[in-house]
Amino acid sequence: MIIEPRTRGFICLTSHPTGCAQNVQNQIDYIRQRPTENGPKNVLVIGASTGFGLASRITSAYGSKASTIGVFFEKPPTKGRPASPGWYNSAAFEKQAHKDGLYAKSINGDAFSNEIKTQTLELIKEDLGKIDMLIYSLASPVRTHPDTGERFKSVLKPIGDTFTNNTVDFHTGEVKEISIEPSSDDDIENTIAVMGGEDWQMWIDLLKSENVLAEDFKTVAYSYIGPSLTEAVYRKGTIGAAKDDLEATAFKITDSLKEINGKGYVSVNKALVTQASSAIPVIPLYISLLYKVMKEEGLHEGCIEQIERLFNERLYAEDLQLDDAGRIRIDDWEMRDDIQAKVLKLWQEATTETLPNIGDLEGYKNDFFNLFGFNVDGVNYDKDVDEIVAIPGLQ
Ligand code: NAD
Ligand code: NA
Repeated sequence: MIIEPRTRGFICLTSHPTGCAQNVQNQIDYIRQRPTENGPKNVLVIGASTGFGLASRITSAYGSKASTIGVFFEKPPTKGRPASPGWYNSAAFEKQAHKDGLYAKSINGDAFSNEIKTQTLELIKEDLGKIDMLIYSLASPVRTHPDTGERFKSVLKPIGDTFTNNTVDFHTGEVKEISIEPSSDDDIENTIAVMGGEDWQMWIDLLKSENVLAEDFKTVAYSYIGPSLTEAVYRKGTIGAAKDDLEATAFKITDSLKEINGKGYVSVNKALVTQASSAIPVIPLYISLLYKVMKEEGLHEGCIEQIERLFNERLYAEDLQLDDAGRIRIDDWEMRDDIQAKVLKLWQEATTETLPNIGDLEGYKNDFFNLFGFNVDGVNYDKDVDEIVAIPGLQ
């Protein structure tokens, strides 16, 4: 079929297998040139199909020839209905990895569930024995608790006061003010239940109790801080409470892994266009201004550049450069004073009329469509493609 983008609000309902495959190939090519010395060998990536998790899988596999197991929650294709992009990404990754003689298998299902955890554990035991790295890169709006069956929904709300600021509809380019009502008590707890550290800890507890974590095992989860502009709705809002919880969990994990000299870390990453971040109000306007400034300064990075730097200049360089709160910071360039000062100035000037010039709305849009395999350089979208694509190592 010929597949075109069909958007509804902040989501795209279709995705393109050839475009997704090209995105994956570009990331593989990037990492092939930048190997990791003493990198990981057996890696489990939770949230492995898109964004930072996919980049982590590719960096592990192509940076140090690691065997990778990927866990994700993606929609398979049916006749006439394309899969979600993470499905096509994973298919492309595994096809290439197998060609290159790399072990790569995947599990598609709810990572929060006991069932998927058990299935993953069994696969590790059978195929890898032990893992030396676990990347935790889930972004989900909901979580069903595996023990109680309770279903939690995460929300993006300020805590305490109504938040009012500008945002942009990146499809139309319209800059307008929005107000977000403050959270109620349950919102904070629910958001922590979904995006906090409990599930990460559950994974570690299970894998440790079954003795499949290698000596000197490392695990990393991803966090975000961002500028003062978004603080009230992000870092000091409900999602920030969940990130606080996630960050605190890293220390608990380290404590629980003393016997094997294991370490839990959080890496604070840069703001990037992903399916998760497009849905957050105010962030698209911030990102479009940030991209403009960082591109001008030659400092722009995507997920793969960020994770390559995380592996090669922090985690496996034995040079973590932890901040005061014990976190790895690969948002260092985004947060540079000169970058933030420029973004803040542009923020005050941003209107529907000025944004096309002062911001990188085009870059934002392009990245958004790229997530779904559209607007990818070198892909012929007039060509008929088969929407039914298999993931070769899917369990
Ligand atoms: P993403 O939406 O690209 O990836 C989310 C991944 O989680 C996908 O692989 C998806 O399949 C998987 N997933 C979602 N629900 C699942 C479930 N129930 N079971 C199994 N898999 C599930 O998101 P991302 O932007 O790469 O975010 C990953 C992490 O990085 C998040 O913790 C996010 O807060 C953090 N982060 C994001 C940004 C940003 O700007 N995008 C910046 C810093 C940190
Ligand atoms: Na991810």
